[in-house]
Amino acid sequence: MGKVDPTMSGPAGIIARQASAVAMLARCLTCRRGLLGRNSCASCGRSYPEVDRILEAIGPLTGTNRIAAAFYDGPSWRRFRPWERLFLWFQGPGPDRARRQVLRHLPEQPGALVLEVGIGDGENVRRLPSDWAIYGVDISRAQLAACRDRFPVMAGRLVRAEAEDLPFEDETFDAVFSVGGFNYYRDHAAALREMRRVARLGAPVIVADESPDLYHFAPGFAIGLEGLDRWGLRAMGLDPEFLAMVTDHRVDIDSLAQAEWPGHRRFPIWNRLGYCLVDDGSPEGA
Ligand SMILES: C[S@@+](CC[C@H](N)C(=O)[O-])C[C@H]1O[C@@H](n2cnc3c(N)ncnc32)[C@H](O)[C@@H]1O
Ligand SMILES: [Zn+2]
Repeated sequence: MGKVDPTMSGPAGIIARQASAVAMLARCLTCRRGLLGRNSCASCGRSYPEVDRILEAIGPLTGTNRIAAAFYDGPSWRRFRPWERLFLWFQGPGPDRARRQVLRHLPEQPGALVLEVGIGDGENVRRLPSDWAIYGVDISRAQLAACRDRFPVMAGRLVRAEAEDLPFEDETFDAVFSVGGFNYYRDHAAALREMRRVARLGAPVIVADESPDLYHFAPGFAIGLEGLDRWGLRAMGLDPEFLAMVTDHRVDIDSLAQAEWPGHRRFPIWNRLGYCLVDDGSPEGA
């Protein structure tokens, strides 16, 4: 039997290319044609390399996404992580209860196809039903690699991409969710639109994060000594650029969500120190 040509279309070509699951769902960021398991776009030629079972569908990062990726790729996040875990622990109590406040909005659907945006090292993966096909997007290569190493089933299901420009076909997933990180996304409105676009009609799209003004609860802020808080956050691991982003950042989550997801519901979570937005795509008041 002759060798199968991996450039050919159809099932034979796909098998010959050993296409990863995620490349089968992906579409080109430039011309929006489906990749059909290829690592370059058959239409415009843009390349989508897969490095160690993680698909690359991203351009040069700018704005807060550049700062966040440097933070999560480098040693700062490792230093800060125990503090994040401690914060979340108190909001349960315990991490399972804290995360359940968000994950409870996911559908009870056997075999669901689900996308986590900003998946990090996959803390939510083991809390989801084992018969679900979970896919993940993140801007941090180090976090995606950690997720793949922790959960071998995620190999071939991870993409380095921005929430603001998701490399998936419209109406692909039975649910799309994001836990943490949203406050510092470069373009919140684009991310909300993209998450809605790749979710099926009526499928829940969920975004949860701590309140953007959480920093105002810090002791130094209360007594007008913000320098004290900056010093504390530096000592906890935040690098100067990320810290400046946190303290200077202003985002009005309610107005944003109202504009992009008029029919969404908002739930206070984590002892009212966080928010959870749930949208099913229905128009306002439906
Ligand atoms: C606080 S971590 C949360 C990780 C995981 N979701 C969890 O619940 O433990 C935030 C993650 O979002 C990712 N992230 C930040 N901005 C992003 C963006 N614009 N698009 C995709 N991922 C992003 C970060 O790289 C990081 O891994
Ligand atoms: Zn293309």
